[in-house]
Amino acid sequence: MVLRFFCCIILLFNIVACNQKSSSTDIHSETTASASSLYTLHCAACHGKDGKKGISGAADLSISKLSDKEIRNTIVNGNDKGMMPFKDLITKPTEIDSLVSFVKTLRK
Ligand code: HEC
Repeated sequence: MVLRFFCCIILLFNIVACNQKSSSTDIHSETTASASSLYTLHCAACHGKDGKKGISGAADLSISKLSDKEIRNTIVNGNDKGMMPFKDLITKPTEIDSLVSFVKTLRK
């Protein structure tokens, strides 16, 4: 009887653990999807889908060597030429975070 009870608990625990695992992968793919659509919406016009387009002197993101902090700062405050003022367009820290990681995926 007691053994059966324990089996039940272990089974339940497994189900919960599996569910958690699959939902966290879901979240991850969602983040990637929304980061790439954010990029397409706000950034691709100048930087291009692969980061190399360079419209109006946009930096080639595939060879960029900026740190996470510098990328974040560029997105939020723009550059010294006033080209990228996204402070008011991209306001959610999570969106900025996902863009920072997305920008790095363009590197070769
Ligand atoms: C209006 C055109 C334009 C848009 C839109 C734009 N950028 Fe830029 N971006 C530039 C220009 C121009 C530079 C280069 C500035 C310089 O060399 O001083 C630059 C530079 C950068 C850099 C610095 C790269 C380096 O190595 O110096 C990053 C990172 C960056 N952009 C990311 C983004 C992201 C992310 C977005 C979308 C949220 C975006 N940019 C949207 C024009 C744009």
